[in-house]
Amino acid sequence: MTQRYYITTPIFYVNGDPHIGHAYTAVAADVMARFRRLQGRDVWFLTGTDEHGQKVEAAARLAGLDPQAFSDDISARFRAMVRSMNISHDDFIRTTEPRHKAACAALWQRLEAAGMIYLGHYEGWYATRDEAFYGEDELSIGADGIKRAPTGAPVEWMREPSYFFRLSAFAERLLALYEENQSFIQPASSRNEVMSFVRGGLRDLSVSRTSFTWGVKVPGDPAHVMYVWIDALTNYLTALGYPDEQAERMAFWPADVHLVGKEITRFHAIYWPAMLMAAGLPLPRHVFGHGWWTVEGEKMSKSLGNALAVQPLIDEFGLDPLRFFLLREMPFGNDGDFSRRALINRLNVELANDLGNLAQRTLSFIAKNAGAIVPVRGEPQPADWALRDLAAGLPERVAAAMDRMALQEALEEIWKLVRACNAYIDHQAPWTLRKTDPVRMASVLRDLIECLRVIGILLQPFMPDTMAKLLDQLGVAATARDFSALTEGLVDNAPLPQPSGLFPRFVEPV
Ligand code: MSP
Repeated sequence: MTQRYYITTPIFYVNGDPHIGHAYTAVAADVMARFRRLQGRDVWFLTGTDEHGQKVEAAARLAGLDPQAFSDDISARFRAMVRSMNISHDDFIRTTEPRHKAACAALWQRLEAAGMIYLGHYEGWYATRDEAFYGEDELSIGADGIKRAPTGAPVEWMREPSYFFRLSAFAERLLALYEENQSFIQPASSRNEVMSFVRGGLRDLSVSRTSFTWGVKVPGDPAHVMYVWIDALTNYLTALGYPDEQAERMAFWPADVHLVGKEITRFHAIYWPAMLMAAGLPLPRHVFGHGWWTVEGEKMSKSLGNALAVQPLIDEFGLDPLRFFLLREMPFGNDGDFSRRALINRLNVELANDLGNLAQRTLSFIAKNAGAIVPVRGEPQPADWALRDLAAGLPERVAAAMDRMALQEALEEIWKLVRACNAYIDHQAPWTLRKTDPVRMASVLRDLIECLRVIGILLQPFMPDTMAKLLDQLGVAATARDFSALTEGLVDNAPLPQPSGLFPRFVEPV
């Protein structure tokens, strides 16, 4: 049976426009989803928008719109952003959809029936911006005399009737989960942070609000709306057809990976598994918390006005180079800086010079000097074996890195072969062999394009359009581009189309 793979992005808040930080989560999940599809897995890939809560209600008011009209507008912008990033999601969920409200109500009732929800009062320091309560010990007072959460968000004292979820009952079981499944929370820095938080003891979680109305109503008590995180986390089940547990797509549960930003790992690694345990539902297999981008050394923020929209970047640098940069620049899980200089440098060095040039000089040389057909291999020499071994072992090394979600490492492995090919072509010098030993020249060129085929197939998840172009130029049939075709080879003497450049060098406009 085909192995299933369910991957999710966080659902994006509709309180502001999409920017490169959101695109990052989506691209990383997209690369994982595409990679698993090429491995032959049956993939379900979910993204969408998180539309309820006080923050959205407030943003809508500011814009002079009702929250639904406001959410419709911003949700459509996120949909456009994921389309322009070439994200291959299978479903785009919105938390204002009837299917989601039904799922939230059903999960709530299940928790209530299990005795996991009770009515009480909540008072405490609340930050609207973060949609979260903070303990007194977490707060600081700024120079402006305003009390703030560690995130910098201002807090205010709130007291209201509230339903509570018995989170405190789950600390031991959560710790046991993290111990038994060491890779449940990745990377290790997130795991440590979550574990020490849980070891510090868990309080019951306030899961309803009466102070505003923009949310999913609590079943049987419409004065309350559900806390936005309870509502939001449920989306991962809604999309599979929950509460209809017989729904075909429910076979994708539990999720293989919830890919999230590091600041929301806590919600996914504590609240969510506790809710699922309380409801008697299977737990996701992994929660991965990726790092954050700064822009030219600064935190991206509305007030600084430095949040980068994706379309201008795509227009200027091209989509695939942008996708590449996002995953290449730092180890997946770490923070990084999005600077124009770093971006141009990566594009020119690794794409234009290393890979683009390799493909261009090999393919145009074949077009001009080897009859524009797939050259035939001759007697191998030691240098050929070294290159062939490197290429043959590459798929396994890349897959191992991807299994750990080490996306940057996967790219680095592929680039080792790209660089080896460049060294090989320089040493073998087919331009000299053309006059001295045409049989050997053909063999060298063939080894090079076999490597390019492997590189092109493995890079498809990262740069789908450009790699389709490369594989076209290599004459690789559309049916021979998944990973099961990696061990196949090109066909002797098959005609090759006219090559054209893959990655133009970026020159700063003067
Ligand atoms: N709505 C919640 C998630 C609910 S999931 C059940 C949320 N939304 S968000 O729009 O604020 O963030 C969505 C994703 O974008 C998060 O994974 C977050 O980490 C990511 N990013 C937002 N800004 C970012 C950067 N500057 N850098 C990298 N990723 C960042 O949280």
